[in-house]
Amino acid sequence: MLYLWIKAFHIIAVIAWMAGMLYLPRLFVYHCAAEKGSVQSETFKIMERRLLRAIINPAMIAAIVLGLWLGWMGPDSRSGWFASGWLQAKIVLVLALSAVHGMFVLWVKAFAADRNRHSKKFYRIINEIPTILMIGIVLLAVLKPF
Ligand code: HEM
Repeated sequence: MLYLWIKAFHIIAVIAWMAGMLYLPRLFVYHCAAEKGSVQSETFKIMERRLLRAIINPAMIAAIVLGLWLGWMGPDSRSGWFASGWLQAKIVLVLALSAVHGMFVLWVKAFAADRNRHSKKFYRIINEIPTILMIGIVLLAVLKPF
C-alpha cells in the first residue's frame, strides 16, 4: 500500500518536472524575440526564474528521491528493482534529463544577465530533447522490456 502511495506521488512529481521542462524552452524562444532591457524581457526573466525555483527544481528532487525509494522497495529483497535492466536504462535517461535541466539553469542565468548567446532556432531544437527522453523513460517504466 505504501508502495502505491509513493508511486502516485512519484508520478505527480514527474508530471510537474516535465511540465516545466517542456515549457521553459518555449519561454526561451519568446525571450529571444524580446529586446534587451524591455519590459517584456524583464517579465520573461521573472517567469523563467519562478518556474525554475518554484516548480522545476523541487519537482526534480521529489521525482528522483521517490523513484529511488520505489527502486529500493522493488521485488528483490536485496537489490529491489536495481538489478533490472529497464531501471538501469531508465536511470541513464534520467541522468541525461538531469543534464538538460542543468543546461536550463545555466541559460536562465545567462538570460537574467542579458548574456544569452543562442538563437530561437537553437531553443526550438532543444525543446524536443526532454520530450524524446520522457517518451523513452515512460516506455521503460511501464513496459519493462528487459
Ligand atoms: C532516478 C530517478 C528515477 C527512478 C530511480 C525511478 C524508479 C521507478 C520505479 C522503481 C518505479 C516503479 C515501477 C513499478 O512499480 O512497476 C517507477 C515508476 C514510474 N516512473 Fe520512475 N523513476 C525515476 C524517475 C522517473 C522519471 C524522470 C519519469 C518520467 C519522465 C518516471 C516515470 C515513471 C512512471 C510513469 C512510472 C509508473 C510505471 C507503472 O506503474 O507502470 N520516473 N519509477
